[in-house]
Amino acid sequence: MYLILLALHSLIRWFVLLSLLFAIYRAFRGWLFNKTHTGIDDSSRVAVTIAAHIQLVIGLWLYFISPIVSYFLHNFKDAVHERQIRFFGMEHITMMLTAIVLITIGSAKAKRKVADKEKFKTMAIWFTIALLLILSSIPWSFSPLISRPMLRAF
Ligand code: HEM
Repeated sequence: MYLILLALHSLIRWFVLLSLLFAIYRAFRGWLFNKTHTGIDDSSRVAVTIAAHIQLVIGLWLYFISPIVSYFLHNFKDAVHERQIRFFGMEHITMMLTAIVLITIGSAKAKRKVADKEKFKTMAIWFTIALLLILSSIPWSFSPLISRPMLRAF
């Protein structure tokens, strides 16, 4: 189950990133060029929120069964000084939870705005900050410190 969830979590990262990039593109385009807010914009906002929440559920599940996190929690005093262990036990979850909260708040705020420009502006700002947090907290394959594959086989 652990390896299946890990592969799923790795794969869904791409859905989160692609949906987020598309929604941000639509948001800036609408905000800066005074476009009308359409169904595509609404769907892109909802798609980001759903992808992020699915990733949250799988991430939380992983957190409770991961041997790395388990080692971190049971040997906190020593493990907190080990960069790779601390990353998954503390840093990754904190940054990703913050990003998902920003996506959720941004999405809810954008939905409630009446003016199209305000909807676009809200999405553009909240989603861009969330994207930066996510990009900085993914264990990229090219990262010198914590490197994980770009995609994992099931
Ligand atoms: C948008 C949000 C997130 C993205 C893009 C993301 C991305 C990733 C990626 C790419 C990995 C490496 C997977 C691999 O080894 O192939 C990973 C590992 C992990 N993630 Fe996330 N993650 C997100 C949110 C979360 C959240 C919210 C949690 C916890 C609540 C979480 C918990 C974990 C854990 C525990 C691991 C490592 C498990 C292990 O190696 O034993 N993630 N994440």
